[in-house]
Amino acid sequence: MKSIPELHTLIEKELKEIKIPNSPENLYNPIEYVLSIGGKRMRPILLLLSHQLFSDDIRSSVNSALAIEVFHNFTLLHDDIMDNARLRRGFKTVHEKWDNNTAILSGDTMLVQSYNLLMDVEDNNLRTVFETFNKSAKEVCEGQQWDMDFEGRDDVSLSEYMKMIEYKTAVLLASSLKIGAINGGATSEDAEHLYQFGLNLGIAFQLKDDLLDSFGDPEKFGKQIGGDILSNKKTFLYLKSLQIADEKTKDKLLNQFLNDEENKVEKVKEIFSQLDVPKHTTEMIKSYYTKSRKHLDSVNSDKKHDLISFAEQLKERIS
Ligand code: IPE
Ligand code: IPE
Ligand code: MG
Ligand code: MG
Ligand code: MG
Repeated sequence: MKSIPELHTLIEKELKEIKIPNSPENLYNPIEYVLSIGGKRMRPILLLLSHQLFSDDIRSSVNSALAIEVFHNFTLLHDDIMDNARLRRGFKTVHEKWDNNTAILSGDTMLVQSYNLLMDVEDNNLRTVFETFNKSAKEVCEGQQWDMDFEGRDDVSLSEYMKMIEYKTAVLLASSLKIGAINGGATSEDAEHLYQFGLNLGIAFQLKDDLLDSFGDPEKFGKQIGGDILSNKKTFLYLKSLQIADEKTKDKLLNQFLNDEENKVEKVKEIFSQLDVPKHTTEMIKSYYTKSRKHLDSVNSDKKHDLISFAEQLKERIS
């Protein structure tokens, strides 16, 4: 059974060994670039940890793990165009370093690469794994569309937000865990509990991402602080603020979001802080971690310690 650092090393090594053609270089260089600038690799690690709950021989999951990481990086290329983001993992985003068209087409190619890698699943599991992956891939797009739609709306509810983050982010963690479980030979009941574990973990993860986007350490976060505020994202922080603020503060916040004034980020963050919204967000994160743990507790395996500690690490993450 491999430890978390060993799995991380394995994934880095395997990612480097993915064959990427030389030409056309403006199609393939951005792919090499985005895969080489780091990232936590948490989805492939979750997939392999999930496999290890049921079998030590993870060879049949390595390419599935790479498929999920390549797919994730594809979504980042397109997401960064959609969010107008300049920085990713502390480096220039692909559309900044090249241009939008390049990021679109390199991203499309990565989607195809991820399907190629996923074809390596054992024949008896191929259909179930593809169904799981395809369902999530479609849901990620649905979540991303809601995320974009919400930028232009001022009546987004907290429950609409929760569904949006479930789709854009959580389902990919969930299906990573489910695919690892299927490849490892889990029962369908255990695979479903691992899916639910990942779904709740993923919701907690996106809530933390929203928190870090406003209050993270700019040196460590690797993305532009305040990006969500500048794009008028309807994050948990914003929606919770509107829910608990008095009329005067509410108007102030709505106005800040309407007008692209100077110091918008600082002014909005001040309102979030006054309302103690970081604390409310942290409590919400905790409650989703608790929900996720209940599902993991129901999984039949005596090797869950690494998944538990990996989830704990994610809760404390700063990047
Ligand atoms: C970023 O995902 C996109 C979100 C779902 C918030 P990660 O935070 O996993 O990004 P990397 O791969 O570690 O850079
Ligand atoms: C991204 O959510 C989710 C996907 C990439 C599908 P965010 O837009 O919050 O992710 P970051 O903050 O850019 O990493
Ligand atoms: Mg986005
Ligand atoms: Mg983004
Ligand atoms: Mg974000």
